[in-house]
Amino acid sequence: MSIERIGVIGAGQMGNGIAHVLSLAGYDVVLEDINSEQLDRATAVIQRNMQRQSAKGLIKEEEIGPAIGRIHASQSLEGMRDRDLVIEAATEDEAVKRKIFQELCPRLSAKAMIATNTSSISVTRLAASTDRPERFIGLHFMNPVPVMQLVEVIRGIATDDTTFQAALDIIKHVGKTAAYAEDFPAFIVNRILLPMINEAVYTLYEGVGNVEAIDTAMRLGANHPMGPLQLADFIGLDTCLSVMQVLYEGLADSKYRPCPLLVKYVEAGWLGRKTGRGFYDYRGKEPVPTR
Ligand SMILES: NC(=O)c1ccc[n+]([C@@H]2O[C@H](COP(=O)([O-])OP(=O)(O)OC[C@H]3O[C@@H](n4cnc5c(N)ncnc54)[C@H](O)[C@@H]3O)[C@@H](O)[C@H]2O)c1
Repeated sequence: MSIERIGVIGAGQMGNGIAHVLSLAGYDVVLEDINSEQLDRATAVIQRNMQRQSAKGLIKEEEIGPAIGRIHASQSLEGMRDRDLVIEAATEDEAVKRKIFQELCPRLSAKAMIATNTSSISVTRLAASTDRPERFIGLHFMNPVPVMQLVEVIRGIATDDTTFQAALDIIKHVGKTAAYAEDFPAFIVNRILLPMINEAVYTLYEGVGNVEAIDTAMRLGANHPMGPLQLADFIGLDTCLSVMQVLYEGLADSKYRPCPLLVKYVEAGWLGRKTGRGFYDYRGKEPVPTR
């Protein structure tokens, strides 16, 4: 199936990154969000990130204008009517995603495909809430999308071969590499990564080390490019908590219990970089540990 027009729902950190790589690869993109401020911010972020790529010689300066021109911001799902594929990248909350699909499906043509960028929710279950489970797939981009090479591809139980092949073609066309994961809670990357982050928060909670010691230990002792708490702030603490909850409930094993300190940070609205404060406070010139 030939895919030319793609819709992206949710213009947060993932949605803007997905729109960025798709438009550079030549796709026509409608980027939709219910929050107009997020849409304005996304457009500015995409432009800034493309300029950064151009300064590093990764893309040509003259590619930026046409790519930005291929992204159309929209505050309504009406813009999705002529899309060949819609990638949902809204908040990691099953009720939110289900409601989006309920409103999206009647607007789409019968042959249009839907993908979800969910980090952890069952693709089969999300697919079952649509009118086209055979044309529904998980396309799990990594953050930041323009930089990270991997896209996990997750088939639901009903996903057909045409949809799977179309997804692989898109990943190739945007210059990324696919890894196939079965539809189990949090797939591969987050099944392994999030319990490590959660354990780092327990290490902080139990006073084994402070934020700086934990991150320094993992950066220099395990050769990780970022400390786990720095990475948690980067991912978003609400997303981290939500993935742990899905693992805890989906696999029914107490080893996935979300750390109470992670819950507390989320309750405080300290969600990491995107809100200016998490395990670090980003409101000054340099990030300052909050514990
Ligand atoms: N943050 C990561 O590192 C990461 C990595 C891979 C996948 N994901 C997944 O990507 C998705 C988005 O995550 P994010 O980090 O971009 O979150 P985010 O909070 O930055 O952005 C979510 C966006 O969705 C919008 N939104 C909420 N309800 C909506 C609706 N009904 N219609 C349209 N837009 C709506 C919000 O306004 C917000 O702009 C989640 O499913 C998340 O699990 C996140």
